[in-house]
Amino acid sequence: MSKESEFSDRMLSLGLARVSEAAALASAKLVGRGDEKAADQAAVDAMRTQLNMIDINGVIVIGEGERDEAPMLYIGEEVGTGKGPGVDIALDPLEGTTLTAKDMPNALTVIAMGPRGSMLHAPDVYMDKLAIGPGFATDVVTLDMSPSERIKALADAKGCAMSDITVCVLERPRHEDMIEELRTTGAAIRLITDGDVAGVMHCAESETTGIDIYMGSGGAPEGVLAAAALKCMGGQMYGRLMFRNDDERGRAAKAGITDLDRIYSRDELVTEDVIFAATGVTDGSIVHGIKREPGYLTTETILMRSKTGSVRRMSYRIKTS
Ligand code: FBP
Repeated sequence: MSKESEFSDRMLSLGLARVSEAAALASAKLVGRGDEKAADQAAVDAMRTQLNMIDINGVIVIGEGERDEAPMLYIGEEVGTGKGPGVDIALDPLEGTTLTAKDMPNALTVIAMGPRGSMLHAPDVYMDKLAIGPGFATDVVTLDMSPSERIKALADAKGCAMSDITVCVLERPRHEDMIEELRTTGAAIRLITDGDVAGVMHCAESETTGIDIYMGSGGAPEGVLAAAALKCMGGQMYGRLMFRNDDERGRAAKAGITDLDRIYSRDELVTEDVIFAATGVTDGSIVHGIKREPGYLTTETILMRSKTGSVRRMSYRIKTS
């Protein structure tokens, strides 16, 4: 393999941060403006423009949707100048469109990049997710355990009471039974209205976020992005795709997935070393949101490499007038 065609995670990472920053800057003017679609579109346009400036031969594997549903950043779209290494890209130009429209915490722009074949081509279905931070024995919690068994196992592993555990869950009617069961353990439940990539990432920095464990179902594409983040930050994650009808099973078949009940570990969702960038749109516990001052915008980006486990937080200030 020639040097030029290798996936050089170190060289590509700054380019990735620029992509993520550009998407956040573009959506800045739409924070709190009640228009999810416009915010998403602004982020998509900016992310695509910036991505196409990087010397990569990139293919979107997790994107805005199938080609017939999404005109830009669709699954299978080729991006980059075409001059560099062949890479797979997973992205969500605006993770938390409603959070952005309502100016609620933890909206992010998110992108991960790795060598070809490094990330599961997850169809747009739900995924049952479970995540904890670093420092625990493998499989200390599993998807096969009940929600309360997971809290007990994690509390035992941490040497604390179940009531000292905080679990993060998306607030959805489909999680009502799980939440009811979790209440019996005495654990605290941080309910989030959206944004489970951030929800999972919170587990890796539990000392600052206060969250020990994430569980529940959300988008499968977001599951792969969250696994990419945890592969860099440390922590365990499991995901099982969920299918509600034949159309969704058909999406899995199209993505080459045959074992519909499979539980994927973090390293099966993301099989090789990747780089990951996320920029805050609204304020959150992982990164600050966009800051506006007269004449300037400032963003904060978390930029990470799984090969080294390096986690950078970068502040970027740009003139607006
Ligand atoms: P959007 O940014 O596309 O609105 O997605 C936000 C999100 O909350 C994800 O973080 C999560 O995985 C998914 O939606 C959950 O889907 P649903 O709203 O159908 O429960």
